[in-house]
Formats: sequence, C-alpha cells, structure tokens
Amino acid sequence: MEETQHVAVFDFGSQYTQLIVRRVRELGYFAKLYSPEDISEIGTPGAIILSGGPKSTSEPDAPDIDFEKLKSYGVPVLGVCYGMQLLNIKFGGSVKASNKREYGPAMLAPTTHEDLYADVSAESQVWMSHSDTVQDLHDDVEVIASNQHGTPVSLKWPGGFFGIQFHPEVTHSHEGNKILNNFLNQAEKLQPFHIEDFKREMIEGIREVVGERQVVCGVSGGVDSTVLAVLLKEAGVNTRAIFVDNGLLRKNEAAEVQANFKRMKVDIETVDATDRFLDALAGKDDPEEKRKIIGNMFIDVFWDAVGDAEMLAQGTLYPDVIESASNAKSKASVIKTHHNRVPKILELQEQGKVLEPLAELFKDEVRELGASLGIEKDILNRHPFPGPGLAVRCPGAVDRHRLNIIRDCDAVFIGKLKEHGWYDKVWQAYAGLIPVKTVGVKGDERSYEWATNLRAVISEDAMTAEWVDLPAQLLREASQDILNEVSGINRVLYDISTKPPASIEWE
Ligand code: XMP
Repeated sequence: MEETQHVAVFDFGSQYTQLIVRRVRELGYFAKLYSPEDISEIGTPGAIILSGGPKSTSEPDAPDIDFEKLKSYGVPVLGVCYGMQLLNIKFGGSVKASNKREYGPAMLAPTTHEDLYADVSAESQVWMSHSDTVQDLHDDVEVIASNQHGTPVSLKWPGGFFGIQFHPEVTHSHEGNKILNNFLNQAEKLQPFHIEDFKREMIEGIREVVGERQVVCGVSGGVDSTVLAVLLKEAGVNTRAIFVDNGLLRKNEAAEVQANFKRMKVDIETVDATDRFLDALAGKDDPEEKRKIIGNMFIDVFWDAVGDAEMLAQGTLYPDVIESASNAKSKASVIKTHHNRVPKILELQEQGKVLEPLAELFKDEVRELGASLGIEKDILNRHPFPGPGLAVRCPGAVDRHRLNIIRDCDAVFIGKLKEHGWYDKVWQAYAGLIPVKTVGVKGDERSYEWATNLRAVISEDAMTAEWVDLPAQLLREASQDILNEVSGINRVLYDISTKPPASIEWE
C-alpha cells in the first residue's frame, strides 16, 4: 500500500497500541505501526499518533522521538498517555513521575466542544492506565479537558498537536471512537481507506514482485490461505496451490475444500499424507510430542511437494507481523515461533522469495477483501481450525477409529449450530473425544463407551474465551442425535470452562 495519507502510529510499547491501529482502520482510514526510531521512514502521513507506553519519561532509557522531524511533517499529531507526556516535555513543560498507578475508569470533562471534543458529552467515562502526569505547562498550551479532580488530562498545543492522558482505543472509554474520529477530522490530507483500492494496489504489487516466476502457496481451506490463493489467481500470476490432507481433518473436509476451490476456479494439488501422519502419531499420547510430530511432518510433506520454489506466498496477517517484530526487538523470550517464520522460510525471505500480500491486514479486513474477491460468505465465516487438526481434540493417542468418532460427533454438533442459527454467533465450536469409558444403557443392553465433549466459545483474539450459553433445545437435539447415531459414544458433555484457565482446544 502506498504510504501516503495514512495514519502513522508510533509505538512506545503500550499493550493497547495495536488497538489504536484497529480503531483508526475501523473509522475508515489506513493506519500503520512504526517504531519511533523509524520516523524518517513513514512516507507522507496524513496524521500521526504517539502511543502510550509502560515507561516513565523520566527514566534514562525512556523512548524518545525526533521532535523536529515530527513537526516537519506538518500534520496533526495526537499523543496518547506516554505520547502526551512526551509532547508536553518537547513543548517545554514537565512531567511529574509517580510510583502510584491510576488504572481504571475516570470522568472526562472537556472545557471546549470544538476539535477533539466536538459532540462529546459534558461528562464522559474514559479509561486511564498511567502513573506519570503532566505538571508544568508551557504558556502556549491550552487545557482542553480535565478529570473529576480538575487535573488536566487533555492538552492542545499550537500547530495541530493534541494530547490525551486516557486511552480512547479501549471500549471502556465510552466516547473514545468519537474523540479519535474528531482528531482524524483535523487531518485535511487524510483520505478514506477502501478495500477495493487496496485490492487494486495489492494486485499490481503482486504482479510487479512476482513477474514471470512461479509462486507456490499452501492452502488449508481456512480464510487466510483461501483469500491468498484467490488473490494470486486474480493477479494472474503463475501459481501452484498445495493442499496437504494430514488425515486429521473434519468429516468430508478434504472433499469440501477441493469442491470450494473448484467453484472458485483455483486449481489445487492435494497431497494425501494421511498414512504418513497417522503412522507417525501411532501410540503417541503426549500432547507436545503429538504437536511436534504433526508440525515437523507438515513441513516435510509440504516441502517435498514444493520442490525448488521460485517463490513462496504465505497468508501472514498484520498481528503476526507486529508480534514477530516486537519479539525480535524486545529480547523477551519468545513463547512460540510463528509457523510462518520457521528457518527454511527465513532463508527464502532473505533471498527475496517470500510474498506476504496480506501482511498489512487484520482478520476482518481479510474477510472484507475476500468478499470483494467474490469468495462465498460460508467460506469467509468459517470457524478457526487448528493446524494440528483433530489431534488436539482427542486427548491421548489418535487413530482412525477415534478420529472417525470425533468427525461424526462434530458433524452433528456443527449441523445443529447451523440449523438453529448459532454457527455465525459463536467464534469457534467443535466436538472432541474423551477416551474414557463409562457405563450406560443402550437399547436393553449395558454399554461401556467413550464420551464426547461439545465446546462453543466466544473470543476476540483467542487469548481469552467465554463458553457460550447455547439454548437447551439445541444441546438436547445435538446430544440425542449423537447418542443415537454415533456408535462408540454413550455420554455427551458440554464444556463450560473459560479460557483462562482452560484453553479452547483440549491439548
Ligand atoms: P487454545 O487451545 O490455545 O487455542 O486456546 C486458541 C486458538 O488457536 C487455535 N489453535 C491453533 N491454530 N495451529 C493453529 O493454526 C495450532 O497449533 C493451534 N493450536 C490451537 C485454536 O483452534 C483456537 O482457535
């Protein structure tokens, strides 16, 4: 994407920085995150936001920004929390350090109903998370809002510089979006972001980068890889799309994925590696070992199929890019290496052979792009499905028999969710297997069979999740059908665990 007229957001390390980018995009403008050191590499932005951060401006290694360069862009600047304190210092004021943290809701009372506070209520709840506060103010500054104690929490400096002590990007700031939008309205050069324009630019970019080379991509049937493959087709580049059937997919999934791509006129090569995966997994019951086997096997199978790639395309999204960049910068221990950043891929990346056209988009934008590429709603709204597939829904060892039982239970449950209009309301749902036998009665006979667990959750980012209070009738029908139709199961349980402490999958 051409980096003109977008909103440049400088990251000072706040946990909410990514949310600022999201909010700006939701308000209809393109926004991108930058490190303050990269201030000369932001093109020609239409507006600039300085994020919050965990440090105090008085700490010796507190992050800084080149103020002269910042001013030279001549566009409105909004400092949020740490960003506001930094601006106050740059404008000749001072900041009072405190070791007491103000965290939670506060009342905002604007002293003006212009610019940032146009149409904002006389009293509005905002979310605070800071320990420092501005102290001395320079003569030129105007206090444009205070809190309930009369402390200044929002400032305006000459030249289109604004500061807010609170976080407009979190939903607990009730009029946060309005305040952000008011700020963006100050930016005359900012242009609305349309996915259609973005798509055009992406397609041109892909053609330019790829040229005559052949691009290989992996498809799973999930949203990101499907959008990627269709985008490559739309760009008209020479593409090979490879679909690995690891034998751990849901009922009829491989056939459905093939049919979906056929309808979209994208040729895919299917590699049926069921035997390789299931043989390697035989008798393995340790969750981490199972995951490792599946992950390594996928790489082997995929690269065997790829051979010598001239180029590899991946459906990496913006949150993954941000996460990898911050992992690389903060020397913090990396909890998991993203599967799009394994050594083989890093090597190709160094040779300029990796294409990641979706790397500036959030998931909802990928769906929007997919819709504009004509991809069916059912495909775009599919629930997430983990790479290791049904293996993480079957504690203990997996085998064909167990996998088939899970497939049958899952098909009934998902079918019921669709029938009752709940599939699109939940974030993810599935049936798993609890391979523990319990006693029951089937017909006139004693049964001694396994149990299935049904799980349906709502989540925003998979980091936390709530179980869904599904209608009893839906659960009743799912249970009845499973008990009647799936041999090997005599008990149906509904998982009512939140994450944390549980996780969404069972392994
Ligand atoms: P957990 O079980 O950690 O799952 O709460 C969070 C989300 O991530 C999905 N998941 C995975 N996705 N590869 C993936 O692509 C994986 O190894 C993997 N493990 C879990 C899970 O389905 C849920 O949406």
